[in-house]
Amino acid sequence: MNTDEQLMEKIISLCKNRGFIFQAGELYGGLSGIYDYGPLGSLLKNNIKNLWIKKFVEERRDTYLLDSAIIMGEKALTASGHVGGFSDPLVDDVKTEKEYRADHLLEDAGINPEGMSIDEMSQALKDNNILSPEGNKLGDVREFNLMLKTQLGSSSDSSSTAYLRPETAQGIFVNYKNIMDSMHPKLPFGVAQIGKAYRNEITPRNFIFRLRELEQMEIEYFIHPDDWKNQFDYWREEMNEWSEMIGIDMNKLYEVEIGEEDRAHYSERTIDFEFDYSFGQKELFGLAYRGDYDLKKHAEYAKAKLQYTDPHRGETFVPHVIEPSMGLDRTILAILTSAYTEDEVDGNTRSYLALKPNVAPYKIAVSPLVKNKEHIVEKANEVFGILKAEFGNVAWDDNGNVGKRYRRQDEIGTPFCVVVDYDTLDEDHADFATVSIRHRDTAEQERISIDELKNYFKEKLSL
Ligand code: GLY
Repeated sequence: MNTDEQLMEKIISLCKNRGFIFQAGELYGGLSGIYDYGPLGSLLKNNIKNLWIKKFVEERRDTYLLDSAIIMGEKALTASGHVGGFSDPLVDDVKTEKEYRADHLLEDAGINPEGMSIDEMSQALKDNNILSPEGNKLGDVREFNLMLKTQLGSSSDSSSTAYLRPETAQGIFVNYKNIMDSMHPKLPFGVAQIGKAYRNEITPRNFIFRLRELEQMEIEYFIHPDDWKNQFDYWREEMNEWSEMIGIDMNKLYEVEIGEEDRAHYSERTIDFEFDYSFGQKELFGLAYRGDYDLKKHAEYAKAKLQYTDPHRGETFVPHVIEPSMGLDRTILAILTSAYTEDEVDGNTRSYLALKPNVAPYKIAVSPLVKNKEHIVEKANEVFGILKAEFGNVAWDDNGNVGKRYRRQDEIGTPFCVVVDYDTLDEDHADFATVSIRHRDTAEQERISIDELKNYFKEKLSL
């Protein structure tokens, strides 16, 4: 049994050694809070994104996909409240000048910072003699805006100030009118977007949990205000269904109602879906009732009409919004934590990722039993071609002996290994060539005819 810390270390090292996730800029010493997804991490991430689009856009009649710009102007983000209010409480170690989150230092000392003002946090740090992690005195707490600022063009007046968006949601709200005018949707309807967002976290931590560059999957679902309670409950169910579908351990997922003092500035009700990560129970997804806050603010600042007229009742109003918001990187960490398993096979400890086939980077690995028998390699290539054409993410693995290949594929979560061996060739002329299929979770094997392989995997991979 691993301690929580060991589990996290094993996941981080697996991610690096097996090509899932690398620290960004590692060659030059690394960028804190920023990660690159390697070949297998990119496949895993892409599988999740495709499943999300399938579930929340393609299989629905009422949701539109959007891909809005990452860079947003200052006025839009002033309207949304981010220029004025998207901040964290920052405090300096007076000796080393290192910066820390004041609320985290209070939490670490067993004091709940919920609902405290900046001054109250300063006072609480002093009253409880809390020092920096280096053991030095702390200064006064101040607000630190989390947005990453940039400038468009060469002039430096305020009209050229821009930001990397802090949430994909705002790209949806500023396009509300364009979507209404071009697509003419009827209420209720959703706009879904997957994309990068940026937060200049004071202390990024816990691997891909608290990042400065992150990816979000968000839906803004526009509704009549009278409908919000039903819709909130509906989306709550959808988020649970989604979690189960992608292999998040449901025994480690908790719904937490967020109190008024802790809700974001725009929200009238929020439920956080928290996951039992190895570093504690922390937010994975959020479900927020944003009311008409965003559309009203953008209407005011842009001097535009952001409304809806009910075609039957003739009633004109500003739609309200339910927002299911999902961090993609946090989802990946929750999936990896749920899937990481150790057991014993043939008297040896093995580790494997019990990923659901729908998210696994490779669905199947194909191997020739030996590399030096031309006929076996040829046949394995034929089988590989058939499966790759049908299922896409199929690996070719002929490194080392077959036992090592199984271990390697187990470690990256490949659910099935297909091996072409001497028996395959014996049977070839009898028109009934079979291959061996080895199952990741049980390490058991069975023989299937090559003719039946496509249907066999179609059924297995649709789980
Ligand atoms: N749109 C909600 C969030 O970024 O947390």
